[in-house]
Amino acid sequence: MIEKRIVIAAAIFMLAVTGVIALSVRVSGIGVPTCLTDLRPFNEGKVIEQAPKHYEIHYVARMWKFEPPDISVVPGSTADIYVSTPDVTHGVNIVGTNFNLMAVPGAVNYRRIKFDKAGDYLVVCNEYCGAQHHNMAGWIHVTEKAAAPPPAPVQAELPGKKLLEQYACTACHSVDGTVGTGPTLKGLFGSKRVMSDGTTVVADEEYLEESIEKPDAKIVKGFEPAMPVMPISKEEVHEIIKYIETLK
Ligand code: CUA
Repeated sequence: MIEKRIVIAAAIFMLAVTGVIALSVRVSGIGVPTCLTDLRPFNEGKVIEQAPKHYEIHYVARMWKFEPPDISVVPGSTADIYVSTPDVTHGVNIVGTNFNLMAVPGAVNYRRIKFDKAGDYLVVCNEYCGAQHHNMAGWIHVTEKAAAPPPAPVQAELPGKKLLEQYACTACHSVDGTVGTGPTLKGLFGSKRVMSDGTTVVADEEYLEESIEKPDAKIVKGFEPAMPVMPISKEEVHEIIKYIETLK
């Protein structure tokens, strides 16, 4: 009976130990080094940004440097690091982390690492590899600057805006409400306009089209018929009106 209990206790103990190891791997993100036999050794180092904050790094350790020599990733990112060597065995140790991987000729080793803290991480070789072994080093920079610049919000600029400037319309017609030689274009679209002859007109598309093409057809009360006829195409007129519509 005692033997049976000892066996059960031992089994429980084994399970507990295995559980603790499995848990610590999960919780503290301890990467387990893996030798990938199905991956061909490479001799070109590169960093591939697979997704935001997720990099795949092909890291080449060779006599006596690491390639790429300078790698930049953003804080909080995860890197899948594949290590290969074209010459002799090297060690890849990212100083200040628990990342330690051997680069073995003819093989590719892999480990994942998460870079939580910003900083410049020195990478050293910790496997004697010849005369310059002690000078073999590389850098991994964990910095916000590595982030691709967020795409600038593209303020779709209407072609009509450009046309207004191109034809110097804005010299007389402001777009901010200022009264100039001509009425402002701000708030113009859809508004009621009193003409010099006392009639009232709604500044709709038709009215604006006419006003651009035949400036003297209707004159807004209080203004002089001073606008020249411009060589503006029908399409351009419509583009300009589209833009005026946005000037609320
Ligand atoms: Cu490479 Cu020591």
